[in-house]
Amino acid sequence: MLQKQLLLMVIEQILVGQDNFSYLVYCEETKQSALVDPGSNASRAMKRNGELNLDLKYVINTHHHYDHAGDNIRVKEANDCKFIASRMDSEKIPVNIDIFVADGEIINMGSVQMKFIHTPGHTSGGICVIVDDKYLLTGDTLFIGDCGRTDLPGGSNEQMYASLLKLKSLPDDLIVYPGHDYGDKVFDDLGNQKKVNKTLIADSLDVFSEIS
Ligand SMILES: [Fe+2]
Repeated sequence: MLQKQLLLMVIEQILVGQDNFSYLVYCEETKQSALVDPGSNASRAMKRNGELNLDLKYVINTHHHYDHAGDNIRVKEANDCKFIASRMDSEKIPVNIDIFVADGEIINMGSVQMKFIHTPGHTSGGICVIVDDKYLLTGDTLFIGDCGRTDLPGGSNEQMYASLLKLKSLPDDLIVYPGHDYGDKVFDDLGNQKKVNKTLIADSLDVFSEIS
């Protein structure tokens, strides 16, 4: 069963601008897709969605920042899709959010399962997405080798530390797909990040606060 799921779920990492990542997640069986973070320019993601003959069913915003949600309106105009985000970040997101997701909530798309985790710290309503217990899309919560900044409006060192603890409790074999290309590689397994990412290694809020 797991093997079948893996074959039917596909994820593509798409570079937007200098260093933002969008993700196109889709089910090969139903041809339904979800675009995670359209970014400030969703042209490449929408083109890819068209090339693959996918039906864009969901747009997921990991948080409200412009470089992740800026092109929402254009995606909405071109597609009959539902927008997903946390209630807390929704007011700052351009377009009305159709589905508010809470911590632990699951949405299925064909044979693809998407589980949402509330990870505040970068913004108060930041979310990560676990796709089919295989991929962990971390937005600006966790980067390869670092975590998102906590000094912007809505950010919190305490909340970020708690969110990183939450991510640390997840299985090592998840593949971390970050919201920015800030690391020495574009993705990594969570087990390795637990060993090398200074923000995951930090074992107290005090230590974390010194390095973040
Ligand atoms: Fe951000």
